[in-house]
Amino acid sequence: MSEPKKPHYELIIGDIMDLLPKYKEKFHLMIADPPFGLEFDKSSHEYGASDYILYDDKFTADEYEIFSYKWISRCFDALTPDGSLYVISGWTRIGEILNAVKKTNFTLLNHIIWHFSWGVFTKKKYVTSHYHILFLVKDKKNYKFYPQYSNPNTKRKGEKYENDVWYWPKYNRGNDPDRIKGHPCQLPIVMLEKIIKISSDPCDWVGDIFSGSGGTILACRRLGRNVIGFEINKEYESIIKKKARFNSEIFPFLPKEKSNDAKSLTQFL
Ligand SMILES: C[S@@+](CC[C@H](N)C(=O)[O-])C[C@H]1O[C@@H](n2cnc3c(N)ncnc32)[C@H](O)[C@@H]1O
Repeated sequence: MSEPKKPHYELIIGDIMDLLPKYKEKFHLMIADPPFGLEFDKSSHEYGASDYILYDDKFTADEYEIFSYKWISRCFDALTPDGSLYVISGWTRIGEILNAVKKTNFTLLNHIIWHFSWGVFTKKKYVTSHYHILFLVKDKKNYKFYPQYSNPNTKRKGEKYENDVWYWPKYNRGNDPDRIKGHPCQLPIVMLEKIIKISSDPCDWVGDIFSGSGGTILACRRLGRNVIGFEINKEYESIIKKKARFNSEIFPFLPKEKSNDAKSLTQFL
């Protein structure tokens, strides 16, 4: 019997505006955590941020909406007919992103809130402790959705549901085992794994168009999905390859849920 094919993983350094048109109907799932569009500033962003390599991130509101429209419509073309796009954003630019989404053919199925437990602890205004996650599908009659969570409050045993507010009570950035020095804004692997499990099948193709530190590549390797990460900034290449363990075998083929390497999925629940 021939060996099963191993899932593909790849990082492409370059601008997604030029690269994505080459991937027509390639991806079943795309994840986009775009630049915030606010000039990153070590002093205001986060305490102890001196280890970060910051990226160029300055847009006016109008420029940001045009930029968003361009990459969101490129994602539409790069998705399979049953594909989904998750867009992750802070509150400051969500207006421009929503305006841009309205101009595309995507259907917005959910507007998820991720509540996190850290932030800059402001005394004269509310502490920002949430992110927005938009769940968009190309075809509202044909898309993948596999709920993972058995809600104890429902009488219908065995049925699974997903809520549109996400929170991992034991997770904070300090205890994230996969966090790596060098990139300022890293999404938790638990969250990426949740998205991947809900909206794709093993061996599907996943694209992360703003790879950053490479968390999506790592999560896909653990879950046996084919993945391509795109990142414009070459300075992040070695960080991504380190975080996503480019030099080591993660699974010979499809991961078993109980494997040690998938621990990050459950430890923060
Ligand atoms: C908010 S960060 C993503 C962080 C990532 N989700 C993580 O968990 O590490 C946005 C990233 O997009 C990259 N980027 C910005 N414009 C890009 C473009 N046109 N093409 C590809 N990558 C881009 C930035 O360099 C930055 O690393």
